[in-house]
Amino acid sequence: MTYYITTPIYYVNGLPHVGSALTTVCCDVLARYHRLKGEGTWFLTGTDENATKVFDAAEKAGVPPQEFVDQLAASFRCSWDNLHVAYDDFIRTSEPRHVRATQEFFTRLLDRDYVYLDTYEGWYSVSDETFFLDDKVKDGIAIESGKPVVRVQEQNYFFRLSAFSDRLLTYYESHPSFLMPEHRRNEVVGFINEGLRDMCITRANKGWGIEVPGDPTRVIYVWFDALINYLAAAGWPDDAEWSNDSGNGSLWPPDLQVMGKEIFVRFHATLWPAMLMALDLELPKQVYAHGWWTARGVLGKLGKSTGGLPTPEKFTELLMQRSGISQDIAADAQRYILCREMNFGLDTDFSIENCLRRYNTDLANDLGNLLNRSVNMAVRYLNGIVPAGCRVDEEIAALAEQVRLDYANAMEDVRLNSALEAVWRLVGRMNKYVDERAPWTLAKLAAAGDADAANALDSVLYTCLEATRFTTVLLAPYMPCAIQDMRAQLGLASSPISWEGTKCGLLVSGSVVGPPLPVFPRIQNLSLGDETLTWLGVLVPEPPPNVKENHTNLEQSHSQSVGSAPKPGDLIDTGAAQPELPISIDDFMKVQLRVGDILAAEPVANATKLLRLTVQVGEDDTRTILAGIAEYYQPDELVGRQVVIVANLQPRKMRGIESQGMLLAADIDGRAILLQPDSAVPSGSRVR
Ligand code: MSP
Repeated sequence: MTYYITTPIYYVNGLPHVGSALTTVCCDVLARYHRLKGEGTWFLTGTDENATKVFDAAEKAGVPPQEFVDQLAASFRCSWDNLHVAYDDFIRTSEPRHVRATQEFFTRLLDRDYVYLDTYEGWYSVSDETFFLDDKVKDGIAIESGKPVVRVQEQNYFFRLSAFSDRLLTYYESHPSFLMPEHRRNEVVGFINEGLRDMCITRANKGWGIEVPGDPTRVIYVWFDALINYLAAAGWPDDAEWSNDSGNGSLWPPDLQVMGKEIFVRFHATLWPAMLMALDLELPKQVYAHGWWTARGVLGKLGKSTGGLPTPEKFTELLMQRSGISQDIAADAQRYILCREMNFGLDTDFSIENCLRRYNTDLANDLGNLLNRSVNMAVRYLNGIVPAGCRVDEEIAALAEQVRLDYANAMEDVRLNSALEAVWRLVGRMNKYVDERAPWTLAKLAAAGDADAANALDSVLYTCLEATRFTTVLLAPYMPCAIQDMRAQLGLASSPISWEGTKCGLLVSGSVVGPPLPVFPRIQNLSLGDETLTWLGVLVPEPPPNVKENHTNLEQSHSQSVGSAPKPGDLIDTGAAQPELPISIDDFMKVQLRVGDILAAEPVANATKLLRLTVQVGEDDTRTILAGIAEYYQPDELVGRQVVIVANLQPRKMRGIESQGMLLAADIDGRAILLQPDSAVPSGSRVR
C-alpha cells in the first residue's frame, strides 16, 4: 500500500508565496514523516494552468499563454526545490495525460447521463474561477469573496450535482474522518442542506482550456478539469492497474488531500466526491482544510494573488542576510517557521517580525543551545568520544517516549505545529537538565579524582547527546538539511535516519562528536523598516477609503465603508455607548470577557448586515451570537477563528433570533475589525 498525499494544484497567474508554500511544505513534511516510518509514499503537487485568470495574466504580461505557463510552472518547481520539497510527481494541467483523463471523465459522465446541455445565465468571477447565483451577488461583487463578477449567458454542459446531496451526506456520516478538521464538517453539511444545484461545467472556448470532446466551441470549466489531476497523476484511465478487478489504480485512493479552507467546502468536500461517486470511483480517505495566513489588523486583508505575503525566496534571503546562514539552512528554517507559526485548523496572522523572533527563540536559542552545549561539553570534557556503558537518564527517556507518541498523534491529525510543540517540550527540558546537572561542576570534581562525579558526567553528557540525536530524527521531516549538519556534529554524518531512531540509547559508545559549530546563529537585528517590508512585498498600500459613515453597535447595522488597518489608540468598540465618566475597576470586572471559537457562521435571512454565529465558549457552553459584520467578513473566513466575546450580556432578540453575547472589535471609521488572541488559547479563557 502506498501512502498517496496531494496538494492542490497552483494557479500559475503569479509566483508562489508563503501561502502556497504553506500547503506544499505541510504536505512535504507529512510525506517525509510517512517515508521516515518506512511506508511507501507518493507525494503529488502541480500547477493549474487552464484558468481564465491565467490566460488574462499572460495577456497582461504580453507573453503567449503557453510560454507564460511554462515559465511559471518552472518557477513553482524551482521554489519547491529551493524549499527542499521532495515531491514524487508534478502534474501540469496542460500535459497530455491530464487532458486525456479530463476528456475521458467528461465522456463517461455523458454516457451515464450525469451531464446534460442547458443554458447558463448567471454570474462568473474570473478571480475566483467560480459561478455564482443571483442571490450570491450584490452590486457586481460576489458576496462570498468580494471579487467582481461578470454576467454570462451561454449554452453549457451541466453536471447533475443535485443528484448527490443524500449520497454525500450519508457518506460523511459513515466516514467521520473524511472531512477534517472536524469543525469544518458542519460547514459542508450546511452548504449541502442549503440545496445543491446542478453545476455548469463548461465555458465558451476563447482559445484556452481543455476542449469538450467532440465540441471545440466549448472548454471544460477549470475547476472541473483541475480536480481530475489527482486521478490523472495516478494513471487514470489508461494505466494497466486501473483495469484489474477492483478497478482501482495502485495509488488510488489518496490517503490525504490537503488544501486551504477557501477551496474546501464547495470544491474538495462536495463537487470532488460527487464527481468520483458518479463514476463509481473510490473517494479519498481524507480531505483536510488548513486555515489562511491573514494580516487583518496589521496590514489589511491579504488577497490570494495580491501582495501581502512574501515569496519563499525573499523570505529565505531575509533569513540568510540577518543570520548569515546558508541558503539550505535558511530554507529549512523557513519550513520550520511556517509549520510552527501556523495554527493548522485556524487562520493565523502572518507577521515577519514574529517569524524572525521565532527563529531566534526556537532555533538559535533552544535547539541551537542544546546542540552546542552538548557537543561543546563532550569535546571539552570527554575528548569528543561518546562514553561507554551509559544509559539515558530515566526521566528524560520517559519524556522522550511521551514526546514520540504525542508527535506521532499530532502528525496523524495534521497538527504540524503541535508535533513541534511536543519536540520542544524535550528540547526545553534538556536545556534545564543541563543547568540542573551542571556538567562543568562534575568535570571539576572528576578532574580532582572523584570517580562518582566522573561517572555522573559520562551519564549526563550521554543523555544530552542522545536527546539531541533523538530530536534530529523527529525534526527530519521539517528540516531535512539542517538536521544533517546537526547529526554531523554528533558523529552521525552518514548514518541513515528512520523511525527506529526514535528509540532512546542508540548513540554508539566510542563514536566521535564535534567540532561544535552553530547551525542557527542568532539574528542580532530584528527590526524591520518600511524599506525591508516593501522589498519583501509585505507592505502594500491599502486602497483609499471611499465611503465613510457612522457606526453605532456591532450587533446593529453597519454602514458601508472601506477602512484602514487599526492604529494604536483606535477605539475598541464594545458595542456600548462610551461612558463619559471613568469607571471603577470593580465596574469593569463586572463585564465578563471570554475567548470563544467560532464553530459555524451563516447569513441571517432578510438581514444583509447580520451574521449568525455559533460560538463555543468553554466545554459545555455553545451560544448563538448575532453580529453586524456581514459586510466585512464572509461566513467561511470566520469559522475556526477565535474571538473575544462579552459573555454576561443580557440575551437579546433580533430578527426572531436570540443573541447570547457580543463580539469585540476595533471600530475603524465604522468598519469592524474583530479582536483575536495573539495565539490560540483554550476556548472559554477569561480575558481581563
Ligand atoms: N487552482 C486552485 C486549486 C485547484 S486543486 C484541484 C487554487 N489555486 S491557488 O493557487 O489559488 O491556491 C492553492 C493553495 O494555496 C490553496 O490551498 C490555498 O489555500 C493556498 N493559499 C493561497 N493563499 C493563501 C494564504 N494567504 N494563506 C494560506 N494558504 C493560502 O485554489
